This record gives sequence, structure tokens and C-alpha cells, in this order.
Amino acid sequence: MKIYLKTPEEIRKMREVNLIVAAILDAVEAAAMAGVSTWELNEVATREIQRHGVTSAFLGYRGYPAVLCTSINEVVVHGIPRKDVVLKEGDILGLDFGCYKDGFCGDSARTLPIGRISGEAQKLIDVTRQALENAIGKCVPGSRLQDISWAIQELVEKNLFSVVRSFVGHGIGRSMHEDPAVPNFGLPGRGLRLKAGLVLAIEPMVNAGTHEVDVLADNWTAVTRDRKLSAHFEHSVAITEDGPFVLSRP
Ligand code: CO
Repeated sequence: MKIYLKTPEEIRKMREVNLIVAAILDAVEAAAMAGVSTWELNEVATREIQRHGVTSAFLGYRGYPAVLCTSINEVVVHGIPRKDVVLKEGDILGLDFGCYKDGFCGDSARTLPIGRISGEAQKLIDVTRQALENAIGKCVPGSRLQDISWAIQELVEKNLFSVVRSFVGHGIGRSMHEDPAVPNFGLPGRGLRLKAGLVLAIEPMVNAGTHEVDVLADNWTAVTRDRKLSAHFEHSVAITEDGPFVLSRP
């Protein structure tokens, strides 16, 4: 395991790229409404990439064919944008975007409602977002890695939802995926001791029903085995002496 601690100057660069990630997600979110295809959202992201002069972290990554992941309802993560997948009222839409600038990667995701959604869907979104916030609160020097994991698992299970186990968060820096892996389940007081300069992409994936997921025949789209709803939020977070610095939050 090779962990790259970042200098303050490197964290400044990671802040810069992550602010662009946030701005591009905002632009895609503004375009996301009933009647719009996920392919059109990918085109919005592509246009924004060009405007900001950054490089997609997703396009071509292990053969991934788009710059954005668009994961609707029972899709957990890695939904591929398609012309024939059109948003409709009542959907929940996960947007995941990452890019490189000046040699550093930013990565963030959010789940949003399309028009009016069910109370259960709204609760799933709220719990997943809050699980990420609780995890961010653990991003201080001296915490253990699984304090982050447990913060997520505890809130999710208290609300009778389930944590996805087959995908995890990750270190991030000059590569999108660095050590350590950041599971969304674990035991408090276990794992790596967090140090200033560590940057983590923390990304709870939370299912309304079973935690089990299947990957469809396209080898990307991850869906809940019971086809119940799933939500996903992600921030790139730097651990600093002054506490958590959420790089992908404006
Ligand atoms: Co990520």
C-alpha cells in the first residue's frame, strides 16, 4: 500500500480541480429534468469540460465510454449515459463526475430528485447525504480510517437502509484511485491512522433494500439485486491540521 500525503501546495491544486468538478456537476444538475436523456447530460458535461480546459477522469478509464455516470433509481453507480434513457418525474438521479487539472484529480457525486419523488426516495437521499456529512466529520488527524466507515454504516443501518459493500471510496491525488480503499462499513477505532495531507474520496452508496448488487451485461451498470432504490453522494476531502477541508464543496 502506497499512501501519498499532499503538501499544502498540492492541496491547493486539488481544491482548484474539485471546484471545477462542483461547477460542472451544477451545470449538469441544472439540465436534469423530466424529458431529458442521460446522453444529453453527458453532452452538457463534455461542453463544460472544454470550457474549463480540463480532462475527463472517466472517459476511457478501463474502457468507460462517457465523461459522466448517470445512475437512475435502482442503478447504484456507473450508469452509462444513453440517448434512450430519458428522465421522468419521480426518478432519483445519481450524477458522478471526475476530471484532471494541473496533474491532480477531482471526484464528486450527488443524487437528486426529478420533480416530485416519494417520501421513501427523499429519505434515502437525505440519509445518504447525512452519512457523508457524518463521515466528513471524522476526517481529522488522529482518527482511524474505519471511524469514517462506521460513521456511514451506523447512520444508514439506524434508518434501516443498507450499505453497499462491493464498491468503496478511495484515496485521490495524481490518480483518481489511490490507496487507501475507504469502505462504507467497518469498526470504530480500526484501520489506518489519519494524517494531515491525506486526501480521500468518500462515497457512501446506500440501498433501500438489500445491500447486494449485480453488474449488468454492459459490464458497468451496477443495480440493486432487489431492484429497490439506491443513492450515492461523494466528496473529495483533505485531512488538515485545521480539520476536514471538503475540496469539492464550493
Ligand atoms: Co470516486
